[in-house]
Amino acid sequence: MVTVDQQRVARKRTYLMCSPEHFAVEYAINPWMDLGTPVDAQLAVKQWGRLREALLDLGHDVHLLAPEPGLPDMVYAANGAFTVDGAVYGARFRHEQRTAEAAPHRAFHEGRGWRFVAPNETNEGEGDFAYLPEAYGGLVLAGHGFRTELPAHAEAQEALGRPVVSLRLVDPRFYHLDVALGAIDDRNIAYFPGAFSAASQKVLAQLFPDAVVADDADALAFGLNLVSDGANVVLDAEATRLAGRLRAAGYTPVPVELTELRKGGGSVKCCVGELRA
Ligand code: ARG
Repeated sequence: MVTVDQQRVARKRTYLMCSPEHFAVEYAINPWMDLGTPVDAQLAVKQWGRLREALLDLGHDVHLLAPEPGLPDMVYAANGAFTVDGAVYGARFRHEQRTAEAAPHRAFHEGRGWRFVAPNETNEGEGDFAYLPEAYGGLVLAGHGFRTELPAHAEAQEALGRPVVSLRLVDPRFYHLDVALGAIDDRNIAYFPGAFSAASQKVLAQLFPDAVVADDADALAFGLNLVSDGANVVLDAEATRLAGRLRAAGYTPVPVELTELRKGGGSVKCCVGELRA
């Protein structure tokens, strides 16, 4: 599938998702998780289903990982691994509540025959790694500061053979790279500068002079936690200004409501891992 939307071109993607059947907020490992706020589990499943439908309607493939009881955050499938060029750098979760999620992800990737590199360093997959295949010949952006540890960036570079640019996150509300920055096509990003250290902001401004910059309201509404195929940008429905900025830049925003999964500290991108052959 290749469709042209203004000057933007969509590329067919393969994604990995995991149903929120067992989703709940049972512990608090990021500032968004509040044990006192009730979660509507049925609504979570319904909203997640609409997100999956939106990706299928755009012509993409969606693989499913079987959810496991006792792993309420497993719905955030982006955290289980980081794939580039058919190779997989496995996750090693920071918090013990999530460590058991790494094994089913590993089994999934090994079952597909992709080269799997087991991590020695703490990293949360696509939560803290983004890939831009057409930027500088293929560039990995990596976050650290809250979850993924700096040595994992070097380990990922060795595992994947692509240059890794380290970016320091400084605001606990943006505890993963993917809540502060999203790839909107193969060479460009949208991001919220305030989530990064001053030096990392400088690095991003140098590498991505044409980036779409989000304001704090859209960033706090999880607007940057987006999934793009290069033309269609699936993003949280509450990030209305960012949607307007993306439209003005020639992209087609596809808003989805994920009110329940946001109570766990994630929106669109957290629920969607990309499998990059
Ligand atoms: N409750 C999960 C955690 O704190 C949310 C993970 C969100 N995923 C993401 N890719 N940012 O680990």
